[in-house]
Amino acid sequence: FARPGMTTGMKEEKTMTDGLRKGLTAYGDAGFSLFLRKAFIKAAGYSDDALDRPIVGITNTYSDYNPCHGNVPQILEAVKRGVMLSGAMPFVFPTISIAESFAYPTSMYLRNLMAMETEEMIRAQPMDAVVVIGGCDKTLPAQIMAAVSADLPTVVIPVGPMVVGHHKGEVLGACTDCRRLWAKYRAGEMDDSEIEAVNGRLAPSVGTCMVMGTASTMACITEALGLSLPMSATIPAPHAERFRSAETSGRVAADMAKAKGPKPSELLTPAAFRNAQVVLQAIGGSTNGLVHLTAIAGRSPHKIDLDAFDSIGRDVPVLVDLKPSGDHYMEHFHHAGGVPKLMKQLGDLIDLDCRSITGQSLRDIVAAAEDVPGQDVIRSRHDAIKPEGGLAVLRGNLAPRGAVIKHSAASPKLLQHTGRAVVFESIEDMTLRVDDPDLDVSADDVLVLRNAGPKGAPGMPEAGYLPIPKKLARGGTKDMVRISDARMSGTAFGTIVLHITPESAVGGPLALVQTGDMIRLDVAKRSIDLLVDDAELARRRAALQQAATPEWAERGYAHLFHETILQADDGCDFDFMRRKGKG
Ligand code: FES
Repeated sequence: FARPGMTTGMKEEKTMTDGLRKGLTAYGDAGFSLFLRKAFIKAAGYSDDALDRPIVGITNTYSDYNPCHGNVPQILEAVKRGVMLSGAMPFVFPTISIAESFAYPTSMYLRNLMAMETEEMIRAQPMDAVVVIGGCDKTLPAQIMAAVSADLPTVVIPVGPMVVGHHKGEVLGACTDCRRLWAKYRAGEMDDSEIEAVNGRLAPSVGTCMVMGTASTMACITEALGLSLPMSATIPAPHAERFRSAETSGRVAADMAKAKGPKPSELLTPAAFRNAQVVLQAIGGSTNGLVHLTAIAGRSPHKIDLDAFDSIGRDVPVLVDLKPSGDHYMEHFHHAGGVPKLMKQLGDLIDLDCRSITGQSLRDIVAAAEDVPGQDVIRSRHDAIKPEGGLAVLRGNLAPRGAVIKHSAASPKLLQHTGRAVVFESIEDMTLRVDDPDLDVSADDVLVLRNAGPKGAPGMPEAGYLPIPKKLARGGTKDMVRISDARMSGTAFGTIVLHITPESAVGGPLALVQTGDMIRLDVAKRSIDLLVDDAELARRRAALQQAATPEWAERGYAHLFHETILQADDGCDFDFMRRKGKG
């Protein structure tokens, strides 16, 4: 039966680029393609009225392997409700899901696969707007890279942070406290039964790590870019507010589907990318955030310039008091006013003319930020946690194309330090030798890890947080200068230089360091140098073996990865996936 106003047949007046008519399968007869598509989708019980609506695609990244995304089924229901309340039709589709601790060899190895898969499924299936639901570290960057390349109106929903845990009267959170308490256990300050008890308390709910790690960093950046709803970065994963926000996201996506905008290309202006960098510095965000933001920008006509990022960091103070740089957790950030309040405190450092998916300007969003009397999580610029931003970019003969340090989470006394290199050839070598009682190492040395970069490891694992050798940890050493071409979890604390570029596996100078060389780190001068003369370095370079294609890279995705992965200063995207492709 047909109701008034309902389209029943194949004689569509609408353009073939709307709703179900979009991207017809190529059978050589467009009318037949639509006829066939409708015939098959009707098998699922849809009416013509439903099929005549604008379509909002919704990614389902739920997986039993991904507890961070444990609330996705409930979010999906809320988004669908919002889409339908606004008169559009939701279609949920699966994409791969990546959970940090369940991804071998490392989740970063899979980020670009998820970005490619998500982009192609957005293109391949008919939809007028898309809602991407992600959160665990690599998922939001992968989804935003996909959205920028597909350039369809997109709403991003972070799944939200876990609530905090408690142990012996102390507030705990994944995963800054995972590392801190594991280090205590390694140092013999905690016994087997207590570390087991802690193991059950570090992650007390579904959701993403509740410190300012990569997941929280990316959620805050996404909100600053205007790609998600105000407050959506910080609402705890199990809270009712999370699902109301998801319902509103569904409504917004339906409106965007009808209006055919705004698209990512309309929102992601140079000013929006600058705002994201300001927020990244002000939250004391994860070093990974810089790599991901660079990859996202690489999909657009814009670019993240490392030196410009560093100079933003000299002007932008850290205002958010969250672990690992500070004391609190994401739920406290949320109750203090979240990202809108942070942007308000940042004042003229934020370009308030930038726009959001809601159609509002950041000026509107900041004007509505809540004032919470007595809160001390989001500071004012006069009362900053640190006078400078959280991240600094280093250069020098060890890192000609840059390296990164999260100096807000480092030991101040090590920020200017010269020490003797103790070199580990690979992650395996480090694992075998770092706790050897005969290892020749002292607290003033600089631990060096190589072959842990984007191509060498592969996937630039989060191995840059080299453990303090057990014999030093037991003697009370809490921090040492550690340098590598690896990444580090955003939840970690220490004086750790990361992302040394180019990496050693492609012949970067890190490949030339020998145990016993002196290395000088000077964060104030933004330098990292190997104190070995040029003639000796040239001799060592001449003796370097040409790297052959490793066995693991001979076929499949591994081959694609090995042949096309870019360095950290290009966001570790594949060379052919950037906006202009290989050129
Ligand atoms: Fe998923 Fe930390 S492990 S966000």
